[in-house]
Amino acid sequence: MGNDRQRKRFRSGDTYGKLDRDGFIHRSWMKSEGLPDDVFDGRPVIGICNTWSELTPCNAHLRDIAEHVKRGVWEAGGLPLEFPAMSLGETQMRPTAMLFRNLLAMEVEESIRGNPIDGVVLLGGCDKTTPGQLMGAASVDLPTIVVSSGPMLNGKFRGRNIGSGTDVWKFSEAVRAGEMPLADFMAAESGMSRSSGTCMTMGTASTMAAVVEAMGLSLPLNATIPAVDARRRTLAHETGRTIVRMVREDRRLSQVATRAAFENAIRVHAAIGGSTNAVVHLLALAGRLGVKLSLEDFDTLSRTVPLLVDLQPSGRYLMEDLHYAGGLPAVMKAMGSLLDIDAPTVSGATLRDQVADASCFDAEVIRSLSAPVKASSGIWVLRGNLCPGGAVMKPSAATQSLCQHRGRAVVFESIEDLHARIDDPALEVDENSILVLKGCGPKGYPGMPEVGNMPLPAKLLAKGVKDMVRISDARMSGTAFGTVILHVAPEAEAGGPLAVVRSGDEIELDGANRTLSLLISNADLEARLADWRASRGPASATRGYVKLYTEHVLQADKGCDLDFLVGGSGADVARESH
Ligand code: FES
Repeated sequence: MGNDRQRKRFRSGDTYGKLDRDGFIHRSWMKSEGLPDDVFDGRPVIGICNTWSELTPCNAHLRDIAEHVKRGVWEAGGLPLEFPAMSLGETQMRPTAMLFRNLLAMEVEESIRGNPIDGVVLLGGCDKTTPGQLMGAASVDLPTIVVSSGPMLNGKFRGRNIGSGTDVWKFSEAVRAGEMPLADFMAAESGMSRSSGTCMTMGTASTMAAVVEAMGLSLPLNATIPAVDARRRTLAHETGRTIVRMVREDRRLSQVATRAAFENAIRVHAAIGGSTNAVVHLLALAGRLGVKLSLEDFDTLSRTVPLLVDLQPSGRYLMEDLHYAGGLPAVMKAMGSLLDIDAPTVSGATLRDQVADASCFDAEVIRSLSAPVKASSGIWVLRGNLCPGGAVMKPSAATQSLCQHRGRAVVFESIEDLHARIDDPALEVDENSILVLKGCGPKGYPGMPEVGNMPLPAKLLAKGVKDMVRISDARMSGTAFGTVILHVAPEAEAGGPLAVVRSGDEIELDGANRTLSLLISNADLEARLADWRASRGPASATRGYVKLYTEHVLQADKGCDLDFLVGGSGADVARESH
């Protein structure tokens, strides 16, 4: 055993470094796992926070990845201890995994703070696991590093590549339009998801992994190495070594996730055509860290960044292709002066060090600033009397001709109303109409599901219509596309103007000037709002976490965190357990 002074060098020393009754209890029960006495000699204790679950297929290989992190931790002289955290399977959970992002964040925060951990490795990947884990870790602020699941191998169907989600939306509309036999649709299912890993389009999982790498919160290439590539295990091993060094150097999450890191993340998000979901996740994470970040920042910071990465849903290729083309370091190198490459990273190096040796091996997948995929990318933040708290859209995934558009609203009061009437031959709708969906915000659904890319009416699909302007208080999958206006705030359930839009009202989208307007007089709007009454109200959840959530969730323009979770409480716990 080391002496008492050595043992108390790190936070875990308060638990394992005591030569008294409490120290006996803390060490003795851990020894039941077969740990020898000398691992309690004051070495860094590394928590490996694992969202492995067979109910989250995108994270189902993370037990194996954790073993490789442990190798690196042991080798560097640390003590690795793996612990589970609630997993959130995007394709499995109802009513939406987003409802539980903040619950995961609470669990991660308290698990880190309550345990004798000096640093933490976050293992996640499926959409909400990455932000949920980071938010929780940020409120404790220990040295923290991420290893992501990594993307699946490219999907394959009848000799061609198909992309997670993106081709589901396309195939589904093709079936409804009578262009694809149902048997073919069913056959595509097995070829789409054919390996471990996350969606291999630039969906939310890939976006959040890229954001993590751009912020310097992982080792280089974390975002793109395929889940089943041996190099992901190598990266996990090296991450284990790195977190031990981070603890010794006391490099905390807040020292890496600075305002400069968020700005880099937003610009990289634009260059890769990232998911709109990153907006709520980054706002929530910034809120935990006390970094000033506003909805407007997404529009302002991404205005000068073109789309450089040709990936679905904004382009053609998939994550495997992006990795072979050079991965995110090559993208960041191509961005040149658009990034602050002096920003620090977890390893102690700057982004400059990380991109110095990067090369682009496929100029079709990663373009140069002089030959981008599209000139306009990033996030448009819309304002107007229909969305006083803002709304977002993704221009790279929209139809350019619809970005300046005026049309009559076809209103659906709820998701059930949409499903009941969207294919009704009697629905009064044409290709110039604007579809409006209410009741799908954070409080209304509850949980703000990914239903904003609502299906087009079957009778218009049959006429060959491929896109329409759609407006809602919902989110949409990062794999989805279209001229879709999302995150309208305040949401309908909270009494925002969206609640009083009626079928037949004229709405104008002016993308160039970033406005979204309900074309009725102020007096009419105020009269309608005065008459409006909440249909169900937050009280519809009478108990448990969902009641807590609906009573405290912030609107989309604030990141949908729970109001009492904003900020942090640090790592200190004053009292002993016995
Ligand atoms: Fe898990 Fe897409 S469903 S990453």
